Amino acid sequence: MDPLSLREFEAAARARLEPAYYDYFAGGAGDEVTMRANEAAFGRLGLVPRVLRGVGKLQTGVTLLGCRAAMPVLVAPTAFHRLADPDGERATARAAAAAETIMIVSMAATVAIEEVAAAAAGGELWFQLYVQPDLAFTERIVRRAEAAGSGALVVTADSPVLGRRERELRHGFDDLPDHLCCENLRDGDRVRPIVLWPELSWEHLAALRDMTALPIVLKGVTHPADARLAVKHGASAIMVSNHGGRQLDGVPATIDLLPEIVAEVGGALPVLLDGGVRRGTDVLKALALGAAAVAVGRPVLWGLAADGERGVSGVLGLLRAEVEHALTLCGCASVLDLEPGMVRRSC
Ligand code: FNR
Repeated sequence: MDPLSLREFEAAARARLEPAYYDYFAGGAGDEVTMRANEAAFGRLGLVPRVLRGVGKLQTGVTLLGCRAAMPVLVAPTAFHRLADPDGERATARAAAAAETIMIVSMAATVAIEEVAAAAAGGELWFQLYVQPDLAFTERIVRRAEAAGSGALVVTADSPVLGRRERELRHGFDDLPDHLCCENLRDGDRVRPIVLWPELSWEHLAALRDMTALPIVLKGVTHPADARLAVKHGASAIMVSNHGGRQLDGVPATIDLLPEIVAEVGGALPVLLDGGVRRGTDVLKALALGAAAVAVGRPVLWGLAADGERGVSGVLGLLRAEVEHALTLCGCASVLDLEPGMVRRSC
């Protein structure tokens, strides 16, 4: 029987994955407090439905930075999809395109962005970037993303160094197997390592702004003051994210941080969110509190590991069905009808 929930997809994936790879995908930094908090915080929020509103045909589509998505759930950038499935990011891209949503392709993908774009065959892709200290190399990567048809550049800001993930350390997982590499890091006849760069600053964001005409989504914003700085430095959107609890452990749950950030930017740019979204009702809560859309990281990997492209389609299809079901139960014909008054802290 096909999995009935994202949680069941995780169980199916776990049964198929090598333990070291399962722990790489599943784990977080430190005591995994932030990772657990992301999911738990959604559980503490209640949805207060409206009734008798004559809900007919549903409107779940959103337009983000000029890109259309049939549902407000995007694929978050995650590394190394070929650890989950031989087709890797190609399979994910086909499923995201079939679901008519946006896949954010990680710079640490194990399939080159050009091949992911070919697999998406016209589906919307955004490219996630870790700015490399060699800015000329960074620019070559940006040009590849542009040429492949990326609709935005998602710049990850929460990783000046790598989070300390004890599950990975315990398995001794510190590199890809020999037959895989980060294909977007190819430079001439070598593959460069990804460098995380503590010196990265707002000035570099300005330099990136000059480097490309693509909209820049700043990913990993959690402090309201940084949301304001993102607006000032020309970001086109921000993504409230704590990297799924894989970087600084102890950061609050993203859904708890969202309202203050939405208030801070005051509609100046769209605010996206990821971290702990596991149900359609989580999507509704985030949208009601002001997110323009959410993204899911691990659930996509669970679908991919459980059943390749079909599994990712299953995960995205479940989320879409749950969003539609919850919208109807909440008396909302459109995701745009969700508003903060429908969310209460309930326990
Ligand atoms: C990630 N994430 C991530 N983010 C990013 O900007 N670039 C990357 O390469 C990766 N790689 C990555 C690998 C794995 C295995 C995971 C689980 C996560 C973070 C990701 O984009 C997102 O912020 C979180 O996954 C969201 O949390 P959930 O949905 O996994 O709870």
